[in-house]
Amino acid sequence: MNLYRLIYMSDAADYIDWEDLKDILTKSEKNNAKIDVTGMLVFSDNKFLQVLEGPAKNLSSLYAKISQDARHRNCLLISYTPIHQRVFSAWAMKGVNLAFMKPEMKQFLVKKYGASGTGIALPKDEFLAFSVLYDVYHLNQA
Ligand SMILES: Cc1cc2nc3c(=O)[nH]c(=O)nc-3n(C[C@H](O)[C@H](O)[C@H](O)COP(=O)(O)O)c2cc1C
Repeated sequence: MNLYRLIYMSDAADYIDWEDLKDILTKSEKNNAKIDVTGMLVFSDNKFLQVLEGPAKNLSSLYAKISQDARHRNCLLISYTPIHQRVFSAWAMKGVNLAFMKPEMKQFLVKKYGASGTGIALPKDEFLAFSVLYDVYHLNQA
């Protein structure tokens, strides 16, 4: 199968609240399961960092749809690469709000990546963005 991983970052719309996030996640879980996409959506200091893994054509049409969504803006594509295997395979979509993480986990992330607002600073660099996502993914499996 032609598997790809897509990572992007965006600024949440000012009005976004927990209910909006829940709506996004409920819909995403349902939709992504149907198109064989797995991944995670991290929310920190009014920014989104999302990773999506799945068949190339499904990912590109999904990203085209997501990037038009008025609940965020300034979508910045960080990486879109072919992969041999999924790394973020546990959920069709899992939302993680870094402001609500356990203090010791947040401290671990802040030490590594720096603080921003009530969350951690989300990096735009491809390697660092992957690293944050990988850490958050495994902290949520523990
Ligand atoms: C930050 C963000 C992440 C999103 N992630 C997904 C996603 O992973 N899968 C998805 O189907 N929709 C996602 N959405 C929602 C889509 O933009 C769109 O509203 C939804 O897919 C429409 O679903 P429908 O065509 O079934 O009505 C996301 C929206 C935002 C703002």
